[in-house]
Amino acid sequence: MLISGRGSNMRALIDACAMPDFPARIALVLSNRPDAPGLEVARSAGLRTEVVDHRPFRGDRVAHERAIDAALRDAGAELVCLAGYMRLLTPFLTGAWAGRMLNIHPSLLPAFPGLHTHERALAAGVKLHGCTVHLVTEVMDEGPILGQAAVPVHAGDTPGQLAARVLEQEHVLYPAALRRHLTRDAAAETEPAAGPLLFL
Ligand code: GRF
Repeated sequence: MLISGRGSNMRALIDACAMPDFPARIALVLSNRPDAPGLEVARSAGLRTEVVDHRPFRGDRVAHERAIDAALRDAGAELVCLAGYMRLLTPFLTGAWAGRMLNIHPSLLPAFPGLHTHERALAAGVKLHGCTVHLVTEVMDEGPILGQAAVPVHAGDTPGQLAARVLEQEHVLYPAALRRHLTRDAAAETEPAAGPLLFL
């Protein structure tokens, strides 16, 4: 799992993976920021953590990603969850983990890719907002959608209020989408793909 910050989605995945019937275990929590608060959360949960600080790589993003890729493989990772990982990825890492890298984004994609999604949703006057779990491709915040959760936008919402409403759903959606992605992969040969997860 890759993080950069507080790690609340990571926490939701840690809790899910602690359930005996959940089809995944966390091999590694890796942060590009040594001061990411999520690292302490992961350590307290007894998980292996690593920091691959991007700064010594001085803008050589592929070299930074090679170090990340090596750490992931060394830990035996088979799938990567981006959970608030705030670096743009190059085709090196997205290609190396194609079909095996998931991201959660705080909007109903394809609306509002990128940053400041809650401010932009309010400015656009949308009545529904939410979050998306998708497979990662070369293009930021694109890729096959595995699940979405929608929340209402209330009159007078501040970006912070809306963000909190969405975040609560992120914590439900990410483990659910991951679980289904993993179990669907196992059954892919024999069962038709189900529709996307949707919470409202
Ligand atoms: C979440 O809103 C997630 O959707 C986005 O970055 C934020 C990370 O929050 N990609 P947290 O670190 O999981 O609390």
